[in-house]
Amino acid sequence: MRFEVKTTAAAATKTDCLVLPVYSDKPLSGAARSIDSACNGQLRELIDSGDFNSKIGASILLRPDGSIAADSLLLIGCGAKGEFDRKAYRKALQSSFAALAKTRRKSAVTCLPAESVKGADATRRARIAVELWHGSNYRYTATKSDNNSKSVKLNSLGILARSAQAGQVRKGIKLGDALGQGIALTRELGNLPANICTPGYLASQARSIARGKPKLSVQVLDEKEMKKLGMGALLSVTAGTTEPAKFIILKYNGAAKSRRPIVLVGKGITFDTGGISLKPPGAMDEMKYDMCGAATVLGVCHAVTTTDAAVNLIGIIPTCENLPSGNATRPGDVVTSMSGQTIEILNTDAEGRLILCDALSYAEKKFKPAAIIDIATLTGACLVALGRLRSGLMSNSDDLAQSLHKSGEAADDPVWRLPLDDEYNQLLKSNFADVANVGGRDAGTITAGCFLSRFIEKSDWAHLDIAGTAWRTGASKGATGRPVGLLFEYVLGKH
Ligand code: BES
Ligand code: MN
Ligand code: ZN
Repeated sequence: MRFEVKTTAAAATKTDCLVLPVYSDKPLSGAARSIDSACNGQLRELIDSGDFNSKIGASILLRPDGSIAADSLLLIGCGAKGEFDRKAYRKALQSSFAALAKTRRKSAVTCLPAESVKGADATRRARIAVELWHGSNYRYTATKSDNNSKSVKLNSLGILARSAQAGQVRKGIKLGDALGQGIALTRELGNLPANICTPGYLASQARSIARGKPKLSVQVLDEKEMKKLGMGALLSVTAGTTEPAKFIILKYNGAAKSRRPIVLVGKGITFDTGGISLKPPGAMDEMKYDMCGAATVLGVCHAVTTTDAAVNLIGIIPTCENLPSGNATRPGDVVTSMSGQTIEILNTDAEGRLILCDALSYAEKKFKPAAIIDIATLTGACLVALGRLRSGLMSNSDDLAQSLHKSGEAADDPVWRLPLDDEYNQLLKSNFADVANVGGRDAGTITAGCFLSRFIEKSDWAHLDIAGTAWRTGASKGATGRPVGLLFEYVLGKH
């Protein structure tokens, strides 16, 4: 797929399909007006007739006569011009891409990013357009026989811009292309079933992301090495399965060695049965998504390294399965974590925090992080608290929490912060170990965050609970690729 800037006048732009915005209050402005006059008022006629409504989501494909270079026109309803914000812009783009996918056009040029959008400059508008192009063309086909149906015919998308903004648009295209690919990778890894997407598979994906990128290196530790490091918490989770656990480390050196790296840690439970504390069967298939934190780390690493960003970034992925068996960890078992703290495992289904705590210790021990951010499908309680709109955010640093919050808003991938008062931490008391791995029914998302906070000694740290946002359930079941957008935004800076 080729993305390019077009700085020709709308009427003179050669393409199979020119995409034009139409507003409900000022139907024909900018590009649409010049096309209308080149087509002898045919657009105005159509709109006045009431045959096209300008609500967001409306679209119509036309082949007008007249002196325009484009072969066809796709009119896209954009709602009121005064209310055209990022949300409306995203919706309008999405409906344009859906409509294009139904045609047999080979090329298209879109005028939508040339419009003014509240809260988005030219770079951002181009970036969103290309990001969404990838999003609307993602199809899961890996394990389906009819994997060629609905393949897209379009091979080039032009973005119309004033020549003064061509540079900004080019930059936006580059960012959107990298981000769109990263999100698609995260979605694909999430959607793949657990019999394909194993810990070893995630390791091979990490290696393939690094291929051809000299600034990115990958290291994979096996269980023997984890044992040497004292990762007793992580190893207790993998005890019940024959599938080998992996500990994946990606290191990207894009800035001076002296610059402290941002460390991302992703939960990589490739399937969560609950272990001996077995989950009920309803919707258990969705626990293949329990590695979406890991997939997010890989998606962000792919996006950031593709843009060759001047940052230092570390990705850490503790990954294994949580299965019951004769070797599995029992409720009541006490294990020793890499930090030296002993943990009473009262519920083997609270396994995410057990693999993450050793990964957090590793991150602090091996690197001097500017910040550590873990990403995890950690608690069902997060769905109860925040639903599927916002990811949960917990942090020991107000500055880091604020940066992540702002990044989420800017990327349209929002979060909401929950507190970590010490009173919540008291709920994790154990009679038989330094800490219990569960704190009872109350405040389940927060006590999970409190558990993790005990393994951070000195770093600025934040935890993103993506149990509600990483995948959609029901008829449109599938991974969303969140929160790759938020983290890409954060890692590239400015917030
Ligand atoms: N992976 C689950 C969390 C989850 C459940 C995410 C459902 C999305 C949908 C996690 O490992 C888990 O099982 N958490 C338990 C914790 C409890 C035992 C304290 C939960 O949420 O029930
Ligand atoms: Mn679990
Ligand atoms: Zn889990």
